[in-house]
Amino acid sequence: MKKIILSGMRPTGKLHLGHLVGALNNWVKLESEYQCFFMVADWHALMSEYANPKVLHEYAIDNVVDWISAGVDPKKSVIFIQSEVPAHLELYMILSCLVPLGWLERCPTYKEQLKELSQKEINTFGFLGYPVLQAADILIYKANAVPVGQDQLAHLELTREIARRFNHLYKKEVFPDPAALLTKTSKLLGLDGRKMSKSYQNTIDISESSDSLEKKIKNMVTDQKRIKLLDAGHPDECNVFTYYSTFVQNKKDEVYDWCVNAKVGCTKCKEIFLEEIKKILKPIQEKRKEILNDKATLKKILEQGREKANEIANVTLKEVKKIIF
Ligand code: TRP
Ligand code: SF4
Repeated sequence: MKKIILSGMRPTGKLHLGHLVGALNNWVKLESEYQCFFMVADWHALMSEYANPKVLHEYAIDNVVDWISAGVDPKKSVIFIQSEVPAHLELYMILSCLVPLGWLERCPTYKEQLKELSQKEINTFGFLGYPVLQAADILIYKANAVPVGQDQLAHLELTREIARRFNHLYKKEVFPDPAALLTKTSKLLGLDGRKMSKSYQNTIDISESSDSLEKKIKNMVTDQKRIKLLDAGHPDECNVFTYYSTFVQNKKDEVYDWCVNAKVGCTKCKEIFLEEIKKILKPIQEKRKEILNDKATLKKILEQGREKANEIANVTLKEVKKIIF
């Protein structure tokens, strides 16, 4: 039996290159070794987007199209939408009864998000319970591992504590301890050098058109100390160089050399990068088109995912309810 992985993404916007290198490429690697469950976390998205929820479904579908286009294989993995598997919510309810309030109030992501999303009113009952629902997502499949970025480690730690508390209270080893599979890639910076994020409007989307790609890359800030072509550049202080390091590793040394020795100018350097990133995105975008032209297949994939996820989640829920009631 393969070990089980669950991971999820909130459908709050289109996916960008940060998702590609930070999660999707990794998901594709994990698929052959693990039985994977990849979930659109629409309930979690609703916790911050409840004032304008109609867009969530559209993003959910668009994100799934990106996942499959990037190589996630619906024949190997279960791809599903969280809100289509009601057992998550029942387990969430049960867990919420045994999670001390202090665990949630102390959660560092909770405190950070309240500050960061200050323009949104997320000082809500639901948002405080965010990690409990995430624990239910993971535990309902008895996942052995969860691929996450650094920012999600606190949630996973809470999941583990919740699992232990459940097992301890009812003296049964129902839930295994889910391990964190920390994604190794460094955070990809956005076009402006801040973290790549939709809210900063500094992303390159997976589905970005050629025209828009060209504009965005042309306008990228490079090493600010390099003014004339003959000035030596500092690649370590240049975001374009970070992009080369992330996406075009085999050109990294060459770029470093032409930069520090002032052999190639920044405009040219960016033009070459543009061609490279187009090459990387081309097959993904072609696959996107294919999927979007065959909505029936996409629908079937999500139906099969829903069925499979429900089947397995309901087994765990039944086991849990038998213990509780
Ligand atoms: N909180 C995660 C994020 O913002 C999304 C998520 C919801 C998730 N449930 C999950 C991730 C379960 C991993 C496992 O990225
Ligand atoms: Fe950055 Fe390339 Fe210009 Fe060097 S040559 S500063 S790596 S854009």
